[in-house]
Amino acid sequence: MLFKQQALLRQKLFVLGSLAIGSLLYLVARVGSLDRLQPLCPIDSRFGPRGQDEIPLRALQFKRGLLHEFRKGNATKEQIRLHNLVQQLPKAIIIGVRKGGTRALLEMLNLHPAVVKASQEIHFFDNDENYAKGIEWYRKKMPFSYPHQITIEKSPAYFITEEVPERIYKMNSSIKLLIIVREPTTRAISDYTQVLEGKERKNKTYYKFEKLAIDPNTCEVNTKYKAVRTSIYTKHLERWLKYFPIEQFHIVDGDRLITEPLPELQLVEKFLNLPPRISQYNLYFNATRGFYCLRFNIVFNKCLAGSKGRIHPEVDTSVITKLRKFFHPFNQKFYQITGRTFNWP
Ligand code: A3P
Repeated sequence: MLFKQQALLRQKLFVLGSLAIGSLLYLVARVGSLDRLQPLCPIDSRFGPRGQDEIPLRALQFKRGLLHEFRKGNATKEQIRLHNLVQQLPKAIIIGVRKGGTRALLEMLNLHPAVVKASQEIHFFDNDENYAKGIEWYRKKMPFSYPHQITIEKSPAYFITEEVPERIYKMNSSIKLLIIVREPTTRAISDYTQVLEGKERKNKTYYKFEKLAIDPNTCEVNTKYKAVRTSIYTKHLERWLKYFPIEQFHIVDGDRLITEPLPELQLVEKFLNLPPRISQYNLYFNATRGFYCLRFNIVFNKCLAGSKGRIHPEVDTSVITKLRKFFHPFNQKFYQITGRTFNWP
């Protein structure tokens, strides 16, 4: 008898327990999906009246949920239509400079709910074969976004490629252009380090930086060496200025983006007419990496790949001095044109 009562009690407890767990699971799932599908609060009203250029923030909370799925390519055509998603041409492009911190800048801007990044470097304007495929090809390479969000792409080769300014101008003469620069000699060494690593991966030998950067015949700086030429920022910028007024450019301090990213990102938000939404919460210093990493929310954070932040080879100090002296007048001109001064030696 006692045994029978105990069995009955255990059975009841089991049913009640299952019901409680089931309800709990349902609630978790429901809250999760609501979180993704419904506005948590009227985001639009938080920023007051909009300026003409300002990007409205309709339905931005979708970005962290559904949009992520869409970007991964998991969306059905029906979902895309239902959520009004589009592939938009970029309203801003990070045109360079290679090794300036272009990836970090793109990833950090992507923390902003109104920004959607094109993950890959598309090389549409600098590659004749791609360019010949036409603007629709380029648009189709863009991620899905809400109409009021802006798409940003980065292809650092744009900055130094002759044909690019005219081609971008033809697409959109009022596009916003971002250039991230670092102290030119450091940038050149970083550029060399990347090429060196590529050679080593293929078991090839490569010259020392000193041999490439200095012409052995004249003992002067070798201006034919691409890593040196790329760091003559003013020369490249002057070509761009034939098509775009300086107001359409924003110069980002790549050295400061490494040590103190938030103020640099806030300047970019301003330039893009975005409300300030990237905060210190989104950026945390990772001592192991030696760099700031990104925090999207309580569960999702990431650091840049190991190919960003390589250890540079040691370079002869006399070569560094020579290069710094060489870049000095070009830097002065760059400050003058851009109105942004750096403490470069
Ligand atoms: P180094 O590898 O020389 O250190 P790009 O993305 O244009 O190729 O630039 C790469 C550079 O971005 C790296 O150069 C690194 O210093 C810099 N960088 C800036 N912020 C970074 C971050 N948060 N994480 C990793 N690298 C960052």
